Amino acid sequence: RDELMFSYKGIPYPTTICSPEAFKALESFEARSDDVILAGYPKSGTNWLSQILTDLIAISQKKTLGEESGNAEEPEEFPYLEVGDPEKYERMIKLPSPRFMVTHLRPENLPTSIFKNKVKILLLIRNPKDIATSFYHFSNGLATLPSYETWDDFFTDFMSKKIAWGCYFEYLSEWNKYVDKENIMTVTYEELKENRALGVKNIAAFFGIPLTEEELQLVVERSSFQSMKKNSEKTHGAFGNVLFRKGAVSDWKNLFSEDQNEKMDKMFEECLAGTKLGKKLKY
Ligand code: PPS
Repeated sequence: RDELMFSYKGIPYPTTICSPEAFKALESFEARSDDVILAGYPKSGTNWLSQILTDLIAISQKKTLGEESGNAEEPEEFPYLEVGDPEKYERMIKLPSPRFMVTHLRPENLPTSIFKNKVKILLLIRNPKDIATSFYHFSNGLATLPSYETWDDFFTDFMSKKIAWGCYFEYLSEWNKYVDKENIMTVTYEELKENRALGVKNIAAFFGIPLTEEELQLVVERSSFQSMKKNSEKTHGAFGNVLFRKGAVSDWKNLFSEDQNEKMDKMFEECLAGTKLGKKLKY
């Protein structure tokens, strides 16, 4: 498993997806104040929110630039900020505003220009038990990530911080230091599952994108799990099948033992329960 990982600033990443060279180049990336950033730990639903945000940006651009404006469905650069070759950041200088990017990184590992330029960030969080469940199935469904013989093995790694992109509890503790900033909006996977229309409306308002009722309905329909899964071969190729797995809340109940449940509850109590993000998290 270790062969598939490298460590950068103390956090493990998969060599098949990230590289130390790109991380180094990313440090001097110059963010723009009108960039749109989605931050979320792996498996928190980042592809879901990407669909919503790219649709919102396309709607906004059509109004300002006309129908012929860029096609948001075919981005010129892979939107995951830390994934790509080191020259990617040079190429991104030429991209028109607003640039959309997604990141699984913690705030202290993001380029400082993002905070200096007060870029708006949508922070997506999800119940850690469902994150672990989704991550386990994903790791075993994808050749580029270390696979696990048993769920118990995965759980041990997830709890002992050996997992790709580092420990989720630490991730949340780090982001917790930023949640009061006015340029950051937090949304939970669970609240979006409960009321997608309200979630989309709030997200559009945060980014200053006016929406007609018709436009809102379109974004809501296009971001349903069923519609994204149906479209996934076109949008994500063979990877789509692994990515759009269940799209449900509380699937962890099918995997966790009583003992694992208690261990995670204890970890949550110790690291997060008293914090703003801990209270916001649908735990
Ligand atoms: S990744 O690999 O880190 O980029 O994965 P990410 O996209 O962050 O998270 C994948 C999980 O999000 C679920 N998903 C959705 N849920 C609800 N509605 C929609 N439209 C949707 N799209 C993706 C996806 O199914 C993964 O969760 P699990 O629990 O594994 O199904």
